[in-house]
Amino acid sequence: MIPGNAHFDTTKGHIESRKAHAIDVTTDDAKDTQKEVPFKGNVSLEKLEKVLKENPNNVPFMVLTVTNNTVGGQPVSMKNIKETCTLCHKYNVPVIMDSARFAENAYFIKVREEGYANKSIKEIVREMYADVDAATMSAKKDGIVNMGGFIATNREDWFEGAKLFCIPIEGYVTYGGMSGRDLNALAQGLNENTEFDMLETRIHQVKYLAEKLDEYGIPYQRPAGGHAIFVDADKVLTHVPKEEFPAQTLTCELYLEAGIRGVEVGFMLADRDPETKENRFNGLDLLRLAIPRRVYTDNHMDVIAAALKNVYDRREQITRGVAIEWEAPLMRHFTVKLKRLG
Ligand SMILES: Cc1ncc(COP(=O)(O)O)c(C=O)c1O
Repeated sequence: MIPGNAHFDTTKGHIESRKAHAIDVTTDDAKDTQKEVPFKGNVSLEKLEKVLKENPNNVPFMVLTVTNNTVGGQPVSMKNIKETCTLCHKYNVPVIMDSARFAENAYFIKVREEGYANKSIKEIVREMYADVDAATMSAKKDGIVNMGGFIATNREDWFEGAKLFCIPIEGYVTYGGMSGRDLNALAQGLNENTEFDMLETRIHQVKYLAEKLDEYGIPYQRPAGGHAIFVDADKVLTHVPKEEFPAQTLTCELYLEAGIRGVEVGFMLADRDPETKENRFNGLDLLRLAIPRRVYTDNHMDVIAAALKNVYDRREQITRGVAIEWEAPLMRHFTVKLKRLG
């Protein structure tokens, strides 16, 4: 059993491919897209404790994802990070921080959590990691590099164990995987992206798009998160039944409208229950518009918003969605083949 605050899709795929269970322990606040709370990515300590209590010696670690991508790039507070670590450690369960968007999380702690306004992003980051046992990092997000990542841990036994996997998979630890040049770029990226001004510029562009959507009355996961806007398809395509994947349909409609390539983070991505093989319809059904750093201008945001408005204005006419023609047994959303209905 691997509890976590809404495991990222590939993280969940890895867990399920190893025949383990990913159990979502995100706070219920995240389920209501219209509720404005500052740290919607938080762990529900009650849900987490229930998993820890009911599964003695069967929880090898807990995954704490900052920011919580799946529920809308929503941050986790410092208080919640600390309480999560304390609770897990009480049950002798280590905590692994899924860190792809750690710097954006630190930004939100600085601007939203009491006591952090005068701390630098780097100080906040150090504090975020003080109690965790390990971190996994997909560096092409908050490391601002083209590709690469790392595992970091202060547990020597884990370090030695992980090192062994490097040799068959990517080469010896000092020369496999990323080249020296790429490691240098990553060091520079981590340094730059833990500067407040850099984060503020980027996160404000996401907010700018959110304000445009507010103007047009288009519902999204509120408040706007760090890296993306997540449009609430359930509230837009109300005539498309869940079995026909509303968010996936909205994603296709936006692409057809203006060539804008979003991605579904909803029922398609939620995949099937590994045991019952039924579709999992219990989470949110969202269209994610992730905004790459240092790529677009605010004019591009205007175009995205206008295109979404065009789709929104004709939402009543969209009554059919998509059907699955072929799907892979795991992480189907990457390769699924769909047919347009209607
Ligand atoms: C929290 C989190 N973990 C993991 C990943 C996936 O990383 P990768 O594509 O490098 O496997 C992402 C990607 O957005 C993410 O946001």
